[in-house]
Amino acid sequence: MIAIACDHAGIDLKPAVIAVLDELEIPYYDFGTHSHESVDYPIYGARAAHAVANGSCDRGIVLCGTGVGISMAAGKVHGIRCVCCTDTYSAKMSRLHNNANMLALGARVVGTELAKDIVRTWLLTEFEGERHARRVGQIDALDRGEELE
Ligand code: RB5
Repeated sequence: MIAIACDHAGIDLKPAVIAVLDELEIPYYDFGTHSHESVDYPIYGARAAHAVANGSCDRGIVLCGTGVGISMAAGKVHGIRCVCCTDTYSAKMSRLHNNANMLALGARVVGTELAKDIVRTWLLTEFEGERHARRVGQIDALDRGEELE
């Protein structure tokens, strides 16, 4: 199950994300927003992030104008590793090496077809583990407020 959420500036890109989820037959839950009325992106980023953090969704995809604000908000939720991507290489590496569990996209930054490629790549790439697991563990330790070394 994929959590999706957006603000008013990200909403026009949501159908493209849903099209890829449908194409890959991956179920999703849409945490809103559902209109162009101005809303605060941290609220929607947090809704999707909490669903991922509590295990009710496996991963999340969030959208705002730039992808920046909603990725910052989602990433503040304990257990979330959210990546804001504008290219497929970063999307792929964020899964292979960083085990990103949320993806953020900017509807005012990436075009529809690039966004679909990014989403497809990110959804289909699995974490490599091994040495990268140690480093992701260090990120998670920082998330818990622990010191490294
Ligand atoms: C909304 O105008 C815009 O600030 C928001 O969608 C996002 O781009 C913030 O980072």
